[in-house]
Amino acid sequence: MNMKAYNIIEHKYDVIVVGAGGAGLRATLGMAEKNLKTACITKVFPTRSHTVAAQGGISASLGNMGKDDWRWHMYDTVKGADWLGDQDTIEYMCRNAAESIIELENYGVPFSRTKDGKIYQRPFGGMTTKYGKGEPAQRTCAAADRTGHAILHTLYQQCLRADAEFFIEYFTIDLIQNDSGEFIGVLAYSLEEGTIHKFSANLVVLATGGYGRAYFSATSAHTCTGDGGGMALRSGLSLQDMEFVQFHPTGVYGAGCLITEGVRGEGGYLINKDGERFMERYAPSVKDLASRDVVSRAMTIEIDEGRGCGEEGEYIHLVLSHLDANIIHKRLPGIFETAKVFAGVDVTKEPIPVTPTVHYNMGGIPTNYHGEVVKKNGKSIDVVPGLMSIGEAACVSVHGANRLGSNSLLDLVVFGRAAAIRACEVVKSGSSKPNILDKYIEKAIDRFDKIRNSNGKLSTAKIRTTMQKTMQKHAAVFRTEKSLKEGVEKMKEVYDSFKDIGISDRSMIWNSDLVEALELDNLRSQALITISAALNRKESRGAHAREDYQERDDKKWMKHTLISISDKIKIDYREVSKKTLTDDVEFFPPKKRVY
Ligand code: FUM
Repeated sequence: MNMKAYNIIEHKYDVIVVGAGGAGLRATLGMAEKNLKTACITKVFPTRSHTVAAQGGISASLGNMGKDDWRWHMYDTVKGADWLGDQDTIEYMCRNAAESIIELENYGVPFSRTKDGKIYQRPFGGMTTKYGKGEPAQRTCAAADRTGHAILHTLYQQCLRADAEFFIEYFTIDLIQNDSGEFIGVLAYSLEEGTIHKFSANLVVLATGGYGRAYFSATSAHTCTGDGGGMALRSGLSLQDMEFVQFHPTGVYGAGCLITEGVRGEGGYLINKDGERFMERYAPSVKDLASRDVVSRAMTIEIDEGRGCGEEGEYIHLVLSHLDANIIHKRLPGIFETAKVFAGVDVTKEPIPVTPTVHYNMGGIPTNYHGEVVKKNGKSIDVVPGLMSIGEAACVSVHGANRLGSNSLLDLVVFGRAAAIRACEVVKSGSSKPNILDKYIEKAIDRFDKIRNSNGKLSTAKIRTTMQKTMQKHAAVFRTEKSLKEGVEKMKEVYDSFKDIGISDRSMIWNSDLVEALELDNLRSQALITISAALNRKESRGAHAREDYQERDDKKWMKHTLISISDKIKIDYREVSKKTLTDDVEFFPPKKRVY
């Protein structure tokens, strides 16, 4: 027991939000505005959270650029999700979208404008009108190609105005539970001071983002290590639908940086080495604006069948040189720069070499539409006391098996806002705080101390690279039983090799060696359950494309995976919700998904 080695500093709040991306900040703001004593704990400076990298925009049926309806948006999302999304939560998101965007505008987000001063909206993949029968919808509200940046900065400024408190560059080690299993706070490590802190709260909200860095090539920042998911698993909770990992069609070849789908929304298109616009063959109706899983698969087939570009045929060309250079500079200024810096091309003259790149985790910590974490208990689904989760860390299941572009920023603000509304209902400002006894944090301190003093022969980088390459190879765009089985075995070895980790730096202040090892501990469990859940799902649905089970199988597999890991991996399933939230819209029954 290593409690004595650390002087633990105590804090008490009504609510603790872990993570300061779009979801964390939107929740923090909503809670602080209503006078809940709210602290946001974040491992990076808030405006460096990964939301800052979101480019193309945020969806909402504002109808500024043509007729639109939240029900059409809902239908597109259900279809994009390949009928794995829960239609009640999708309804909640789509019908609350417009109000959430107007709030953002009022908070000060500098959206791009139409000539008559309305919020500018661009087309994005899978977004249509009239339940897929009409024209592509212009539904994605944009601040040029820096929408996430604009939203994040605005929300942070508003949080400061509302007197939210920030604990910046604090790494959250673990969740704290009392004897009855209720969540009562978190344990965190201040990198700057080298101190350990226990935060007691009536409610803890995990808004820690995705775990894209389980893969070798990802658009995700190096900080996207699924810390919330790792903590939830260590607390004995199951994660949901982890096998569904989105590959964004246009990551810069070699570098992995995102080239927004907004490029195709503005008229850009993909070609193979023969100069063919091959998407016309795969999605005759919407072509380059099909949903991401469809486009990523088409690109992979082109490359695998020898029609890739470049000396080794390893990428596809994204063309935008036919667009008016003024439009590129006005609507896509960040892409102009990214392409120049990371691919060495001038997009007004040359195509960008791109390849499908890991971008988003549809799976995560299961929640209801209030942001409350839920757990399967026999036949019922129960709310887990004291714990919420929002944003990419969560799986409220609006994205199902495949997320539509620009629905993630929407998810962040709608469910960040929903979590704040719920928190104000269940927590009374200033009410008494749970007492964190030593016995509640012993295990977490021991784990921290063990990793900090580890002296095994494997470096963090070595284990991490092996994990990332295993995931990249075995849990890719296309999957087979053989490759997944091999991948599971390799990932089990990687997972177990963590016991041989060695940390070279024993200090407490700014110990990045230690932080990376703690992050790897979070990543390795999620990587292993991702590939294990993929092996278990014998069908193709959304981003989970099995070459050996090519069809979607609604009879057997229209269900969510629930997977946990302690001594061994446990897999269970629960039905996809077959109801809508209100009578304003009817359940969309499953049908074949063509674009
Ligand atoms: O392509 C993009 O701009 C990414 C947007 C998203 O993932 O929602």
